[in-house]
Amino acid sequence: MFKRISALVLAGLTAMAVASCGSGGGTTSAGTSGGGGDDSITMGFSQVGAESGWRTANTKSVQDSAKNAGITLKFSDAQQKQENQIKAIRSYIQQKVDIIAFSPVVESGWDTVLKEAQNAKIPVILTDRAVDSKDTSLYKTFLGSDFIEEGKKAGQWLVEEYKDTKDPVNIVELQGTTGSAPANDRKAGFAEIIQADPKFKIVASQTGDFTRAKGKEVMEAFLKSTPDIDVLYAHNDDMGLGAIEAIEGAGKVPGKDIKIITVDAVKDGMQALADGKINFIVECSPLLGPQLMDLAKKVVKGEQVPARVVTEETTFTQEQAKQVLSTRQY
Ligand code: AHR
Repeated sequence: MFKRISALVLAGLTAMAVASCGSGGGTTSAGTSGGGGDDSITMGFSQVGAESGWRTANTKSVQDSAKNAGITLKFSDAQQKQENQIKAIRSYIQQKVDIIAFSPVVESGWDTVLKEAQNAKIPVILTDRAVDSKDTSLYKTFLGSDFIEEGKKAGQWLVEEYKDTKDPVNIVELQGTTGSAPANDRKAGFAEIIQADPKFKIVASQTGDFTRAKGKEVMEAFLKSTPDIDVLYAHNDDMGLGAIEAIEGAGKVPGKDIKIITVDAVKDGMQALADGKINFIVECSPLLGPQLMDLAKKVVKGEQVPARVVTEETTFTQEQAKQVLSTRQY
């Protein structure tokens, strides 16, 4: 009897050990999806949060693509907190996943945990956002948009829009999450373009944390403290949409009394653009999943991948938004 029980306990322990191994053998547990087959890859993915329409579309893209690629995905949502991302990465290291991918909420403070992954011989892919680590051997590749370029495109539209006026143009800026790559770079790219002409003045600039609620709250404060706002530059659609509510609440007409430029081009943003409430949107694509899974397969096989993979993106005017709105995927 004792022998039979011992044999059962041993079999159970062996099964648990196999289940916690990197390749997983097709096992799934709470918070995982996809996978199958002995040579399947297990990816640990730490997402920033669910702060925007962009982020929701990005999460769906990653989850769907993992399923389609037969990759077992262990997914965690960091709720916009770096400490949660660091915990998630450490747990993926302990679980001996085959590869870790993450979208860093802020740029700095990653060296220690990335070194731990490197010591455990688990490759890391950065997706969507960059880190500012000097040691680029800490990650295999960075897949995502060129946020500086996005900021420049926003600035170029503004310069063109106001080319016939010499009057001052008062701009308020809703920044993304403080310390994040898209907030830093979209600000820098925009500033670089508009600084060529002193008539453009950023009269107020504050973070709205990439959320609709914060965008509304900060825009309400701008409207009270700052007279004569000509332009709002919001680092994403969600903050722009929140700001539209604040502008309408103050009895002004968004898109006319205050011109609005945003970044992302999610469906709600594109609807507001087609409706004339936003004037220009710089696209930032969240559909990174398929490329991420391709890169992950190559990295796990030990193949060379480019150090940087830049997402292809465009811009939209109000007329263009009307044309593409019905076919917009997200
Ligand atoms: O990192 C991409 C940015 O994060 C998107 O522009 C924004 O909407 C999101 O929250």
